[in-house]
Amino acid sequence: MHLHKYEKIWLVFGLASLALFLLIIGFAAFWKGTHPQSHIETIDPQNVEAHESFKPENLGLQEVADGKYIVNIVASAFNYDIGNDENDKPVKTIRVPKGSTVLFQVTTKDVVHGFQVAGTNVNMMVEPGHISRLETVMKNAGEFTVVCNEYCGVGHHQMFATVEVYD
Ligand code: CUA
Repeated sequence: MHLHKYEKIWLVFGLASLALFLLIIGFAAFWKGTHPQSHIETIDPQNVEAHESFKPENLGLQEVADGKYIVNIVASAFNYDIGNDENDKPVKTIRVPKGSTVLFQVTTKDVVHGFQVAGTNVNMMVEPGHISRLETVMKNAGEFTVVCNEYCGVGHHQMFATVEVYD
């Protein structure tokens, strides 16, 4: 088989570019352990309860200072565990006053889920083994639906909750 000189050059250039690209990606992912910024802290997905933030009694909404809140959530197929209310029923709505600062801390026990509060800037990927954190200021009153935007199985569409921001 005869290859034209320029064909050879481009072939070598293409393969070399691919090799270099994979090398850089591999170096960043496996050697440096690079992850999206919210995923700095790791957690054992088989035992999320061992982490202070994800103990059953610490799930859900907590006011940490005046107008400052933390919400701890454990995602799993196909549910967001936001703790239980005083009647021992699972919480499905997070209620915060308008203007409050809310830090969402989410992890997952099983597969990759999404955590998006539609209508706000909260949109995170939730990966097993990592804690996803995002703080936001609830500027507008209203009801915002929390949806899973990573396909996680047959019950994917059943994963939702509500954030209610009241005046
Ligand atoms: Cu959880 Cu899709």
